[in-house]
Amino acid sequence: MPTVLEAAPPSAKGLEGVVANQSSICYVFGEEGRLIYRGYDIHDLAEHSTFEETAYLLLRGDLPTRDQLAVFLTELKAAQKLPKVVQRVIKDAPLTAHPMNVLRTAVSASVFADADHGDESAAAEYRKAVRLIAQLPTMVAMFHRLRNGQRPLAPRRGLSLAANFLYMISGAVPDAEAAKALDVALILHADHELNASTFAARVIAATLADMHGAVTGALGALAGPLHGGANTEVMKMLLEIGSPDRAEAWVREGLARKRKIMGFGHRVYRTEDPRAAHLRRMAEHLGRKAGQPQWFAIQRIIEDVMRREKGLCCNVDFYSASMYYVMGIPLDLYTPIFAISRVSGWCAHVLEQHADNRLIRPRAEYVGPMNRSWTSLGRRR
Ligand SMILES: CC(C)(COP(=O)(O)OP(=O)(O)OC[C@H]1O[C@@H](n2cnc3c(N)ncnc32)[C@H](O)[C@@H]1OP(=O)(O)O)[C@@H](O)C(=O)NCCC(=O)NCCS
Repeated sequence: MPTVLEAAPPSAKGLEGVVANQSSICYVFGEEGRLIYRGYDIHDLAEHSTFEETAYLLLRGDLPTRDQLAVFLTELKAAQKLPKVVQRVIKDAPLTAHPMNVLRTAVSASVFADADHGDESAAAEYRKAVRLIAQLPTMVAMFHRLRNGQRPLAPRRGLSLAANFLYMISGAVPDAEAAKALDVALILHADHELNASTFAARVIAATLADMHGAVTGALGALAGPLHGGANTEVMKMLLEIGSPDRAEAWVREGLARKRKIMGFGHRVYRTEDPRAAHLRRMAEHLGRKAGQPQWFAIQRIIEDVMRREKGLCCNVDFYSASMYYVMGIPLDLYTPIFAISRVSGWCAHVLEQHADNRLIRPRAEYVGPMNRSWTSLGRRR
């Protein structure tokens, strides 16, 4: 098949290795297994920061002072309740809908009630970002309560975003350890350079479409099992394996059948994903505490086999799965949890894109047919 190429030579499939833009938000050091947000190492943030502080860092570029953080928290709290139109959209969703689809639709609808709609100034976009970060947890929790036949709960004062999310889905204020574990998970998921959903958000933003459009598109990209959907698939795999004595044979058989083992591999990391270390520690601890150490035991075996057989390390989605499971979180909320964190990164990238915009419009290498002659409808076979 002839190819047509008027532009630069084709890049690797999946844009591997292509540097698509400059950014000062986040960087993945793939060879070293390092990750920084705005110059801060992810390990420092996971140990010392909170999700709210990290979201501010991503949006604003610097860690907040005490006063700035107080203002940010007040802004988030003030924006947590959902506008009526968004509540209606969530109430109208079929109870069997996937929460990611409901979330995507709710985010898209939230533009109807956004006070800054039509204003694309940096100040207005920042306010939109705050509202989105505040409202995604409420959207996910509202749908979850409704599908369980429960009354949705209003956000509760005095709780962190992570604790409030756990409260809004379960009806119980979580203990400090569970709230902290989810808070750390949210920090770890908040941004990851030009991952697929963030790239999608930037492509949309680069047409000068608004923040809500970009975040809606990003949600669509995140849902796929090769991206944020992998955490749910990991837990399905652990449940199917069932017990540690079956783990090695299960993985070997999967690999022999050329199956992808979910939660492994990465486009950029050539060594361990630095986020996995924190999630591994929390998954082990919370699993033991919940009286369910078997999931972690299965995971350690899978990890060993994958390293030996494929030289692959686990990624962020591997240990987050069992951690959420032992916290009693339903499987189909794992990817929405990823979203309630990553929205902070998406919004930071939209702000950055709009601050120095150029349309993102690459070329394709044409490999289709050429010079075909028109055939009328009646003569086509
Ligand atoms: C993340 C991912 C999409 C990166 O994909 P990629 O950079 O395009 O890499 P490829 O899918 O081309 O994989 C390269 C090689 O590693 C293998 N590989 C990659 N991930 C694998 C996995 N999870 N299980 C088994 N083999 C895997 C591929 O089969 C391929 O082997 P081959 O060259 O012998 O055909 C991929 O590793 C994957 O599908 N992982 C599982 C899903 C997942 O956990 N996603 C969350 C990412 S944070």
